[in-house]
Amino acid sequence: MAMSETMAAAQQRLAAVPQVRVVASFAELVATPFRGEINALCWPRELPGDFGEIEQALPDVDAITSLDPADLRALPLSAAGQIAREQLIADQALLSARGLQPSLDLVPPADPPGRQQPVRTDVGDWHVDSATAETDTYLCSYFGATTEGILNAHATCQVDVPATRASLRQSYGSGGDDESFRTWLTAHFYDLHYAPLPDATTYSFGLGHLWRIATQHPGSQVPPCIHRAPSTSSEARRRLLLIS
Ligand SMILES: [Fe+2]
Repeated sequence: MAMSETMAAAQQRLAAVPQVRVVASFAELVATPFRGEINALCWPRELPGDFGEIEQALPDVDAITSLDPADLRALPLSAAGQIAREQLIADQALLSARGLQPSLDLVPPADPPGRQQPVRTDVGDWHVDSATAETDTYLCSYFGATTEGILNAHATCQVDVPATRASLRQSYGSGGDDESFRTWLTAHFYDLHYAPLPDATTYSFGLGHLWRIATQHPGSQVPPCIHRAPSTSSEARRRLLLIS
């Protein structure tokens, strides 16, 4: 499980990642444009409170479950748990006030899916988020394993890996590498998934930090941020994740 890090440690660690820019406030997180190779903005935070207590107090769930403030307010919590609860509610309000639609998710651990052919297309695989209009993804991990990023220069879109493209062509069936094949690739999200190069540089989104990352959308000025949900064993504690 990732441990929370100090703000100074996060600033230092993330300053070394070329695609990430560290900002100092929520206002800056929202207003800073993506430019050049910068496709991820991070507002590092050292959050007080016991988020593990919240995870422990929540009921068993079979699948990813969205929590609302009423669910949180119903939990019997110690003083440290109450501080964490107020933070979760405040963050949702912060994003909602910007016109976003945040979801606070309780994510139960899941063993990685068996090998999917020809390309994995779940969020535990390196991928980019896509949108039909200019939209960014906001996210924050509060507890449990955290989201990971990879440098764009260190990953290849699965449909551009020759062997993978050949195998996708076979799955598609008849016809050449034509427009309808490319439409099929998009319809199955194959063009949103990436294969890491050997020795790729990856980075952790850490705990408590609020991120805004670039999606793939028409007219985007920067390459989309490639990321994945962490792989967790079925024994792992559940994740608490804010996503919009
Ligand atoms: Fe994603």
